[in-house]
Amino acid sequence: MNSTKVLHTTAATTPVTGYTATAIGLHWLIALGIFTAFGLGLYMTSIHGFTPTKLKLFSWHKWLGVTIFAVAVLRVLWRATHAAPPVAPGTPAWQARAAAGAHHLLYVLILVVPITGYLYSCAAGVPVVYLGLWKLPMLIEPGDTAKAVLQATHIWLNYTMAAIVVVHALAAIKHQVIDRDGTLARMLPFLR
Ligand code: HEM
Ligand code: HEM
Repeated sequence: MNSTKVLHTTAATTPVTGYTATAIGLHWLIALGIFTAFGLGLYMTSIHGFTPTKLKLFSWHKWLGVTIFAVAVLRVLWRATHAAPPVAPGTPAWQARAAAGAHHLLYVLILVVPITGYLYSCAAGVPVVYLGLWKLPMLIEPGDTAKAVLQATHIWLNYTMAAIVVVHALAAIKHQVIDRDGTLARMLPFLR
């Protein structure tokens, strides 16, 4: 048994190991998708007027967002059926609770952020044609009020998610650099 992977052993001597390759792969796939969609979202909305480039970037943003949503559904289903390893031994209870709370919120946001973007697109009366091939359903009627509310919701949930991700990443780096308890290495195995 690889002892560096064993993070905690229960009294019943059942070894509880670190994140599996699936958990790590899904974590970084979604993180990469979100960083790209976020950057693209900020960039595309900063372009003035209705240029062909802007319209193309809006489409790419929507396709990427829909893809992230599909992978996020798989990730949540996978996580619901696979337990996460316990926090590193010696972690204060409040930190364990804060981490669990942040993780739950992030699981909700990786689903809800793309949903609000999709509904905003419907409310604006612009159907999503995934990869330029498949027209996805218009889930709500177009309307000015819904459009304004969903646009603001999409933007503010994005900033909320960004703030949580910054704290989440800083906490992981603090565990790695100050506590040196191997928490970051659970998600970045090459650090082990
Ligand atoms: C996790 C996935 C997503 C992320 C991280 C994301 C992020 C963002 C960001 C950062 C912006 C710019 C906000 C601003 O103006 O400050 C934006 C705008 C936008 N997003 Fe998303 N988005 C995602 C998914 C989607 C999806 C699935 C759709 C539609 C199918 C969508 C449609 C839009 C639209 C239409 C805008 C322009 C809003 C405007 O005109 O002000 N997004 N998104
Ligand atoms: C959009 C970006 C990100 C999202 C949505 C995200 C989401 C999550 C979620 C939901 C978990 C909990 C996994 C579980 O126990 O089921 C997690 C764990 C973790 N994440 Fe992230 N993450 C992101 C970016 C990052 C970044 C940039 C870092 C590092 C710099 C990082 C480091 C970690 C680590 C080390 C864990 C394991 C924590 C532990 O062992 O208790 N994440 N992440």
